[in-house]
Amino acid sequence: MTETPAVDLPSWAQVGEKRRAHIARVTALLDRWASQLKLDAAEAQAWHDAGRFHDALRDAPEAELRRLGAGHDLPLDVLHGPAAAAQLVMLGERREGVLSAVRWHTVGHAGWDRTGRALYMADFLEPGRVFSRAERTFLADHLPHDFDGVFRQVIQLRFEWTLREGKVLFPEAAALWNSVR
Ligand SMILES: [Fe+2]
Ligand SMILES: [Fe+2]
Repeated sequence: MTETPAVDLPSWAQVGEKRRAHIARVTALLDRWASQLKLDAAEAQAWHDAGRFHDALRDAPEAELRRLGAGHDLPLDVLHGPAAAAQLVMLGERREGVLSAVRWHTVGHAGWDRTGRALYMADFLEPGRVFSRAERTFLADHLPHDFDGVFRQVIQLRFEWTLREGKVLFPEAAALWNSVR
């Protein structure tokens, strides 16, 4: 297992140790790509914040997720994205790219800017996941050279899994695939 980097979680986060370590690895990967791609400070900060916010309510109680995610007709395991985005809006977050990245990170969204796309990839490619190690490491290393190509690959891999497992394919996810295929 790779050593876990530190992460500065928001005060409202509700996560256990395993989740915190995942968030830290996702954020560290986003930071690495941002530096390799020489992003300007504002975009690098957006990527970083999308990483540290995305699963901040992953371990919150169901009642709270349902309350915060109200208006989204989504199953419980997907609601932590919309719930965290709603929490961010309440606290004054105005960066649409960050909000959309967090809101849709589990599902996928065709309207994403690079922040949403980068988070979707980092969430899947972070080194703590045990499956397909070599392929995911390759994609993570290749991303700074071909952001769009790796994005397409990651969508395909995630959808293959979704279909194989018999999981729900959300309309937003289908629209994302249609936008890159
Ligand atoms: Fe998540
Ligand atoms: Fe995540």
